[in-house]
Amino acid sequence: MKRSEINQIIRQAEQFLAQYHFHLPAFAQWTPHHWQSQGQNALEVVQNALGWDVTDFGLDDFAHKGVLLFTLRNGTLEQLAQGAGKVYCEKILICQPDQLVLHHFHKAKTEDIINRAGGRLEVVLHQANLAGEITPEDITVSVDGLSKTVKMGGIIVLEPGESITLEPYQYHQFRALESAVLVGEVSTVNDDANDNFFLEPVGRFPEIEEDELPYRLLCNEYSKFID
Ligand SMILES: [Fe+2]
Repeated sequence: MKRSEINQIIRQAEQFLAQYHFHLPAFAQWTPHHWQSQGQNALEVVQNALGWDVTDFGLDDFAHKGVLLFTLRNGTLEQLAQGAGKVYCEKILICQPDQLVLHHFHKAKTEDIINRAGGRLEVVLHQANLAGEITPEDITVSVDGLSKTVKMGGIIVLEPGESITLEPYQYHQFRALESAVLVGEVSTVNDDANDNFFLEPVGRFPEIEEDELPYRLLCNEYSKFID
């Protein structure tokens, strides 16, 4: 992706979040210059990869296959293993109409995907086996505490306010339907480097062509900028 495109996506996200009165922590507004001079004081943000995250899955078609995320909080795998401390993660995502978050599952993470505001969110479900292959099994999920069972490839549509709990090995693909959706994600500790298993081989973070200066840093870029 071009840096100019990432900058524009983040600026639009800021406007979208303001529209729904969703406020981000202070480090969301930090500039690269601020990271350079103050970043060493924000070790938790850096080490736990909090902040802006824009991905096109390496496919260079963000409008149709991509998502903007912001990680508000995240613990560590050590805390998760000990069962103490910050054993959780919270993100927000902005899904545009017909923009897919591609089929993937997690081996460790259990996550709630929440339609916080906006349009309707379509979630497509498949069950994976231990090898990560789709199986013909039905899938049972919790939708706000109600048990729902769908066939392989079944669809759950979340209205604003509704959420779905996705257990490990449950493949999920989602997209906004008629209009953009502010999506919440509440989960166990998130390990983006090792716990995303996509049905098709794709990238997790974009290759960036630096055609202008960054407006905000992405969550995997801090170490390049901190003095
Ligand atoms: Fe997921």
